[in-house]
Amino acid sequence: MAPLAEFFAELAGLLADAENVFAAATDATALEAARIEFLGAKSGRLKDAQKGLGQVAKEDKPGAGKRFNEVKQALDTAFAAAQERIADSGAAATGPTGAAPADLTLPGKRVRLGHLHPITQTIDDLKEIMGRLGFTAAGGPEIEDEWHNFQALNIPAAHPARDPLENFYLATAEVVTGDLSKGANRNLHGPAGGALLLRSQTSTVQIRVMEKTRPPVRIISLGRVYRPDTADATHYPMFHQIEGLLIDRHVTMADLKSVLRLFARSYFGGDVHIRFRPSFFPFTEPSVEVDMAWNDNWIEMGGAGMVDPNVLASVGYDPDEVSGFAFGLGVERVCARRHNVTDIREFYKNDVRFLEQF
Ligand code: PHE
Repeated sequence: MAPLAEFFAELAGLLADAENVFAAATDATALEAARIEFLGAKSGRLKDAQKGLGQVAKEDKPGAGKRFNEVKQALDTAFAAAQERIADSGAAATGPTGAAPADLTLPGKRVRLGHLHPITQTIDDLKEIMGRLGFTAAGGPEIEDEWHNFQALNIPAAHPARDPLENFYLATAEVVTGDLSKGANRNLHGPAGGALLLRSQTSTVQIRVMEKTRPPVRIISLGRVYRPDTADATHYPMFHQIEGLLIDRHVTMADLKSVLRLFARSYFGGDVHIRFRPSFFPFTEPSVEVDMAWNDNWIEMGGAGMVDPNVLASVGYDPDEVSGFAFGLGVERVCARRHNVTDIREFYKNDVRFLEQF
């Protein structure tokens, strides 16, 4: 072990031992013996440990010295506390059995309660809000085939969105059909014949739901999606989306905007504004980029649009009969905006000091 690590380890062990022994001392004699063992000026363990300070590298000295002083302070405090406890209890306070009674004035051990992760809390909130608007939650797998992630969403084979550099294809995904021992088929393809990948969007769930249900459809889907993005303040290779899909007769863009506005008002409360910017997605026409402002700060939340007739046709709906809207928003962005988090990477550092605030 490096001298610095060794020094820190020794201090930690020493402190833990001393605190135990000081706390266990029930009379002045035992406490004095403990004091000599740990704080003795000639050969106490703290004095011994101090020698280790000489071994650490020059640049580590300030840190090591600081830690040494902290430990010394902690030892002094623990000793003083034990001294006070013993003085308070006095001989007369020993119970009928002769053992020192429990000191009911000592501070208790705080029970630390965990709670749900902020993203999970946000997902629950969003489900609740959309539930009130009549949307039920639907789900789909995170490992998808190309039909659901692309083809059925009007993203043809040559489309740049299918580039291996833009997606997490599963090179090793082996779908075994039949019995391997009998020399059955091993191949690298998904059930629909294409490769498998970690889904890059929750729009896959639109297809999965429409394949199984007849219109009207009114669902949301919340879950993880994956893209090989470099992590920065607003990007992460894994993030969560909330997808909404409404299919019925005579659905218009005005319905889309009303639902998104209601949604935003309920989640943020108060002064929220929604703005659409023209955009393009293969599966919606027209398509828009959705921005939201809360307290005058515009943030890009995701995409939306009217479901493209090709998509309706791909799942066997009649585009002359029904129409619909879809949207996909980033859950991290919504949550970050609401709580003034400026860097979404915070959500995945597992730093309890950050997570405790939610
Ligand atoms: N799937 C799109 C994305 O991930 C968002 C979107 C969803 C756009 C639904 C339009 C309709 O960027």
